[in-house]
Amino acid sequence: MNNFSSLKSTIVFRMIIPIMVFIILIECAFSYLVTLHNVNETYDRWLLNSARSLEQEVNVIDQKISVKLSGSALKIFKWDDVGSTYFNIQTESGNILVGDLPLMDKPGQANGQARLFSNILLNGEKLRMVSLNVSAGLPEAVFINVAETLDRRSERFIEMLITDLAPQLFLTLIIGALLYKGVDRVLKPLHKLTDYIAQRSPSDLSPIPDDDVFDEVVALTDTINYLFEKLSNSIASQQRFISNAAHQLRTPLAGLKLQAERAQREQNIETMRPALKQIQNSADNVSHLISQLLVLARSDQIEGRHSFHRLDLLDLTKNICMEWVPKALEKEISLSFESLEKDVFVQADPILLTELLANLLDNGISYGHQQGNILVKIVKQPTPCLILEDDGPGINESECQKVFERFYRIPGTSGKGCGLGLAIVKEIADLHLIDLKIGKSDMGGVQFALNFRQINFD
Ligand SMILES: Nc1ncnc2c1ncn2[C@@H]1O[C@H](COP(=O)(O)OP(=O)(O)OP(=O)(O)O)[C@@H](O)[C@H]1O
Ligand SMILES: [Mg+2]
Repeated sequence: MNNFSSLKSTIVFRMIIPIMVFIILIECAFSYLVTLHNVNETYDRWLLNSARSLEQEVNVIDQKISVKLSGSALKIFKWDDVGSTYFNIQTESGNILVGDLPLMDKPGQANGQARLFSNILLNGEKLRMVSLNVSAGLPEAVFINVAETLDRRSERFIEMLITDLAPQLFLTLIIGALLYKGVDRVLKPLHKLTDYIAQRSPSDLSPIPDDDVFDEVVALTDTINYLFEKLSNSIASQQRFISNAAHQLRTPLAGLKLQAERAQREQNIETMRPALKQIQNSADNVSHLISQLLVLARSDQIEGRHSFHRLDLLDLTKNICMEWVPKALEKEISLSFESLEKDVFVQADPILLTELLANLLDNGISYGHQQGNILVKIVKQPTPCLILEDDGPGINESECQKVFERFYRIPGTSGKGCGLGLAIVKEIADLHLIDLKIGKSDMGGVQFALNFRQINFD
């Protein structure tokens, strides 16, 4: 779950703050390294100049190396208001000619370089030292070692670092503040959209205007508008369905009322009988209509409402056919089932699939000829396919699509149907993603073919 409740805090805490912290860290690291390099460079140059100033004091008198350093020159050389400066002039053979630094390990000579910078420890204190090799024109190599404490460098380093970092940090903070304000500005159209939707009436399903929003939000408003459109279509179709259902119920109920009034006018039971028979028929019609409406409501495409199982299509179809044989025999219709296949499994809701087959069989029997034939077969081609055909009057091509509409009956059709059977068949087939086809049967009547999707049960 999202830890941040608002988009603004998500942008601030997950984007702006991490980016700013990253930039500040990079700035600090970069400034630290650059300042350290600059300070060392500058002070090392000064240290080298100090060593060079001693170079001219080294002379050769009577084949011996001597250093003449006056007291005042020494004072100037050693003057340091912040830290301390040490030096010595030593020969290659290990004699210290002058100075307060202990004998150094001939660093310049060891590396064969004219000068060498190094960090040394003197009495537990860190020093930066330059070692200058001045062997030219002398009987032996002489090294001038000058070292200074790091106090001046540290002081300068901190000063320079602050001077460098302060404006950068200040600028970064200003950018952060501007970004924070920018987020408010960017989210403003979204807030406007939220207010607009909140103020709408729940019955208003007109599209949300999206002229004032970003492309990314347009995708959202498009989706909402698409949902609104679907919802208003579904509400309209439900209203149509309810008014159709009410209309269909009104006819048998009006008949019921009429026949009841007629029966009431009669004096004895014999003269009452035809009216009572009509009442029974009307009641049957109402009950049939209500049960069809309930099946239709049950097959409504509501996600997660149906339980699809792996079921044996052969078994299910055979059992249903057997249940319908007595009804077919009432009209002397031969209802047969055949299949050369074995183990035909499909993913389906058994109750709904039973309703689907029942409606097709009911139609085949109701509209088929006396002593007619109905054939139910299952084939694999390669997906499971259930075919139901008869030798009845068939359905004209022009009516083929109309018969799937709710409450549609082919004009002139007799019987107590209400025109919902094939609408139920279609709805259940769609729910199972079954490809439903209607056509002319070789037997002369109508053929329904139900192609199931291939399901991998492994
Ligand atoms: N096997 C068939 N042979 C000939 N006509 C058929 C066949 N099946 C359906 N029809 C025609 O299609 C129309 C629609 O059938 P549908 O099953 O939807 O409604 P119904 O049978 O009239 O009513 P209900 O099934 O709701 O009781 C029927 O009125 C009938 O005219
Ligand atoms: Mg029917």
